Amino acid sequence: MKIETKLLHAGIEPDSSTGAIMTPIYQTSTFVHQSNTGDNTYSYSRTSNPTRSALEKNLAAIENAKFGITFGSGMAAIDAVLRLLNPEDEVIVTQDLYGGTYRLFTSVYAKYGIKFVFVDMLDVENIRRVITSKTKMIWVETPTNPMMSIFDIRKIANVRLSQILLAVDNTFASPYLQNPIDLGADLVMHSVTKYLAGHSDVVMGALMTNHTKLAQELYRIQNSTGAIPGPQDCFLALRGIKTLHVRMDRHCQNAQKIAEFLSKHEKVKEVFYPGLPSHKNHHVAQSQMRGFGGMISFSLKEDSIEGAQRVLKRTKLFSLAESLGGVESLIGHPATMTHGSIPRETRIKSGISDSLIRVSVGIEQVEDLIEDLEKSIN
Ligand SMILES: Cc1ncc(COP(=O)(O)O)c(C=O)c1O
Repeated sequence: MKIETKLLHAGIEPDSSTGAIMTPIYQTSTFVHQSNTGDNTYSYSRTSNPTRSALEKNLAAIENAKFGITFGSGMAAIDAVLRLLNPEDEVIVTQDLYGGTYRLFTSVYAKYGIKFVFVDMLDVENIRRVITSKTKMIWVETPTNPMMSIFDIRKIANVRLSQILLAVDNTFASPYLQNPIDLGADLVMHSVTKYLAGHSDVVMGALMTNHTKLAQELYRIQNSTGAIPGPQDCFLALRGIKTLHVRMDRHCQNAQKIAEFLSKHEKVKEVFYPGLPSHKNHHVAQSQMRGFGGMISFSLKEDSIEGAQRVLKRTKLFSLAESLGGVESLIGHPATMTHGSIPRETRIKSGISDSLIRVSVGIEQVEDLIEDLEKSIN
């Protein structure tokens, strides 16, 4: 099956008791056992639940993986990955990445003796240089939040040694535009909250892998720590995923036009969008993605927090809010919002200037969106 068909059908069967085409919300904590022999499919909803199982099968299929494991948020999914590690293990991490991931790494897990080495992955030699016998994982985000950096997953997969796990946060691309496992990754992570669910009404995370032992360990962590999504949220995610391809096509078309408009604007200093030929790794994006996504960042010639805030206050269609990937357009200021937890010096070093503005381009009429930005930037 092609991805467009898998999004609607993979892992989803009509309900066996009623024929309902939509997977029912099994809003139950426990299941009555048919016998006490221990062979009941479902027993307790922390361990597994039929609505969640359908979603996990669907998520696995759309990332070309065998296993899908869901969590109560994207952060809970990343947290589960880190629980695979031991004190003194080392992780090589993309230098510019989502602020919440940076916070989890540096303020929670560093405390338990795990070492995080941040490198610029534009040059894979920077990764090779810091690999030691203690390196257990490489954590890649591509495209990155908020700089839209693109890293070459194939090249990174080739540079790492076989015992090092390659994990990719694929949130910004979505499985419709990029499949890291096909490019050599071991593990894919998604904030389902974003493009997958797509309607700004769910917070959820997911992991996908083809490795049986790794999946078993992650299911064990999921059940042991209990950071699971509820059945109602699983239903909403399943419903959202059915239209991922249609939404994503429009997100990409609109974003390309807006990025081109911004790059010609006299008050805009720089535009970061993988679909622009001026993007540093445009050719890598072309080779590993099927589209360039709906996220754009741009900086202003007046490079100050006040300059950015003036724009943010004026937009009418772009709502000032955290998050991304929903059908409505959003606008945000990484320095004071999503990346506020990163010290200024580190933030500037990874390109997040004071005036940097990030937009999540929705699926509205693109001319209305351009007019809104035009009025707000002028
Ligand atoms: C790239 C990326 N990864 C992970 C997360 C965390 O996901 P969640 O907010 O669902 O916990 C986010 C949230 O913005 C994100 O943008």
